[in-house]
Amino acid sequence: MTKQEYEEYQGYIEELLLDERILKMDDFIQHGNTTTLAHCKAVADLCGQIAYRYHIKVDVKSLARGALLHDYFLYDWHEQKLGSMHGFYHPGIALKNATRDFELNHREQDIIRKHMFPLTLFVPRYRETVLVCLADKGCALKEVYHRIFRGRFASA
Ligand SMILES: [Fe+2]
Ligand SMILES: [Fe+2]
Repeated sequence: MTKQEYEEYQGYIEELLLDERILKMDDFIQHGNTTTLAHCKAVADLCGQIAYRYHIKVDVKSLARGALLHDYFLYDWHEQKLGSMHGFYHPGIALKNATRDFELNHREQDIIRKHMFPLTLFVPRYRETVLVCLADKGCALKEVYHRIFRGRFASA
C-alpha cells in the first residue's frame, strides 16, 4: 500500500463510519468493554498500518469494507445461549447480514466468511483476508487483556 493508497484507505474508513448501518455495531459489546464498532475500526486501522508499513499490495476499498464489516453479526454474543460457539458461527451470520445490507465483492465476502481462520477451517483466499485474520487476533488479545490487567490493578 502506497502513501496515497493509505490516505485513500483512511478516507474510505471515515466515509463508512458515517453509515448508520455500520454504526449499529456500537450497540454491542465485543471484548472487555470494547464495542463491536470500536473493535472493527481498530482492526481496519491495524490492517491499513500493516499494509502501508510492509508495502503490501491490496485492494484498498475491499480491505476497508471487509475489515469494517468482518463482525457485522449485530447481537451481543455474551447474551446468546450458544455463547461459547460464537467463534464458529458468527462469520456466517455476519456475512448473511452484510450481504443483505451491502453489495459485496468476492474479496469482501472472503474476508468476512474466513476471518476466524484457523478456528474455522475456511482458508483465506486473498491477502486482504489474511491481513484481517492477523489484525483481528491482535486487536482481540489487546481488548481482552486490557480488561484483565485493568481489573487486576484496580482491585490490588
Ligand atoms: Fe469475528
Ligand atoms: Fe473481530
